[in-house]
Amino acid sequence: MTPGRASWSQALRRRWTNAKERLPLPHHLARPGPAVNAEIDSWTARVAPVERSKAQARATYDRLAPWYDWVEAPFERRARAAGLRLLGARPGERILEIGVGGGHTLAALARQVGPDGSLMGIDLSLRMAQVTRRRLAREDQGVQLALIQADACHLPLHDASVDAITMSFTLELMATEDIPVVLAQCRRVLRDPGRIIVVSLALGNTPSLITRLYIAAHRRWPRTIDCRPIPLHDVLVSSGFTVEGTWAGTIGGLPVTAISARR
Ligand SMILES: C[S@@+](CC[C@H](N)C(=O)[O-])C[C@H]1O[C@@H](n2cnc3c(N)ncnc32)[C@H](O)[C@@H]1O
Repeated sequence: MTPGRASWSQALRRRWTNAKERLPLPHHLARPGPAVNAEIDSWTARVAPVERSKAQARATYDRLAPWYDWVEAPFERRARAAGLRLLGARPGERILEIGVGGGHTLAALARQVGPDGSLMGIDLSLRMAQVTRRRLAREDQGVQLALIQADACHLPLHDASVDAITMSFTLELMATEDIPVVLAQCRRVLRDPGRIIVVSLALGNTPSLITRLYIAAHRRWPRTIDCRPIPLHDVLVSSGFTVEGTWAGTIGGLPVTAISARR
């Protein structure tokens, strides 16, 4: 037998053995979005790691939920409004928000898409999703609303099922290796041509002193200062999006950006 044939049959045997070891998917579970081997790009070397687990993130936001409107939401208002302007939601649209937090963005969107539109919101934290549900119930715009506790790495939505996705102060909370996975999921569920609007702490090529101090604090207290700036433009482009509009601002001196991009 030639060496080539020996290695071919060995490879086949290995494949067969691995295939038999795979567990069947229980029939009552929905198959998660297609496996995505998103490439880890060069921007990843520039961002600080996220040292806390998803379970810790969920617990943090569950605890923060009753206070979120007082603690964080006011500082983020201007940037969120900029994201909404870039999104330019139209009546009747179907829009997903990832990381709904206290529901301020969804409440504004409910007024914009109106009763013919539909909104979906997901959040890792059940308590945050509940705060949003109460806010939207008070708004009562008659909009169709689905709120789900879920991880953005596994969006529980069909392919090409939404017109637009919005995310504010959420992508930069995620582990570096999760970011391309989440953006690949966004591309999967967006219609063609769909749009995505992301608002986040911004990391430029030459970070300012305040940004470097903030990142040092994030590294020192990773569970308290859980988000870190990311080079959002490069992040979106490396996931295949075409950037269309940007807004730049600051929160307490820290650069913030909002970017709209096409699928
Ligand atoms: C800083 S808050 C921002 C909330 C809101 N977007 C805003 O602008 O006020 C981030 C939210 O993202 C959620 N989150 C974090 N990681 C997530 C993930 N992997 N999937 C879904 N939601 C996530 C958190 O639970 C939290 O509610």
